[in-house]
Amino acid sequence: MKNSLEINVAIKNFIRREISDFESMEYAPTRKDSEKKCDLSLNINPYGVSKKVLSKLKYLDKTKISHYYPENTDLINEIASYIGVLPEQVMLGDGCDGCLEMITHTFIDRGDEAIIPIPTFHRYEFHTVLMGGKPVFVPMKNFELNSSDILNHTNNKSKIIFLSNPNNPTGIPIERNIKEEIINGFNGIVVVDEALADGTNLNGASLLNKYDNLIIVRSFSKTFGLASLRIGYIVSNPKIINQIKKTSSPFKVNGIAQELAIEALRDKQHIINSINYINENREFLISNLEKIKLKCTKSITTNFLVDVSNFYKNPEDLIGKLKEKNVLVTDAKSFRTQKNNYIRVAVATEEENEKFIEILSKLLGV
Ligand SMILES: Cc1ncc(COP(=O)(O)O)c(C=O)c1O
Repeated sequence: MKNSLEINVAIKNFIRREISDFESMEYAPTRKDSEKKCDLSLNINPYGVSKKVLSKLKYLDKTKISHYYPENTDLINEIASYIGVLPEQVMLGDGCDGCLEMITHTFIDRGDEAIIPIPTFHRYEFHTVLMGGKPVFVPMKNFELNSSDILNHTNNKSKIIFLSNPNNPTGIPIERNIKEEIINGFNGIVVVDEALADGTNLNGASLLNKYDNLIIVRSFSKTFGLASLRIGYIVSNPKIINQIKKTSSPFKVNGIAQELAIEALRDKQHIINSINYINENREFLISNLEKIKLKCTKSITTNFLVDVSNFYKNPEDLIGKLKEKNVLVTDAKSFRTQKNNYIRVAVATEEENEKFIEILSKLLGV
């Protein structure tokens, strides 16, 4: 019988290069970590899920649970009217992340390049590398996109430009003319990730009539409060949608998530309440952080960066001290920030936000 070392070596020989080279990463705090803690690391809707969604869950049609192929036209029609496109321009995915995965499966071959302005959401890099593609990072200046800078990094191997709008981790939106310059000037696919756009007036759907190389991805995890149901969607022109559909499993998006997403879209009052709650709490956090000389990025959504270099050379030290006091925030390094000055803060509940400011002020002695 082979010993375990030999088995490990043999297995390594069968694993795709992209997988064996990849370092696994911790994405979210464990339940144990976030239990009873003040958690400003999650980037979800702190106002929570709609009561109408919960009531739908209680009275869910049992046959819909046991059926293999959930019918998706109701949700697709609902999304199409919400975002202002035709149903054939929409397809569902298992979260916005699942949508990004299908997109790289469709467009990225080994050796292809994807342009990624940084700092940003790390999953664009992950999905690109997994397909054997090469991420080309373009550092933003003062967290703003520069269209010529982005376009100057493209060449005949560039397949995708990923833009997060608003951006995770800064919460800064992309100006429409800059977005258009990039879409117009690129001979490839521009993926605009609008996972954090519900609740802002950002909606790239109107550009789909003008440009045939644009793909928008959106999520039910944020403003709609359905993160654990894993549901999101892609909006593009039907030609692109039909190609991406080839990569999708027929079982991909579960029926319960679809039923509940319809309810979430219809509960307009809950959406308004969530947006107001997030905006008020973000303003509370930013104004209090700036009072204690911590500069924040100009966010219009749940997350933003805080420059802690006035107090800490290494943000990890602050993060560790906050953790000892049961407060969780995110190290911005994982977003490939150029300077190691930042923590990412995501708006949590009113009580958590107040506690965070109180604990942080004490820690900094201000
Ligand atoms: C910009 C951005 N895109 C996509 C996602 C993933 O969203 P989902 O939960 O729908 O997969 C996130 C989650 O934090 C995000 O911040």
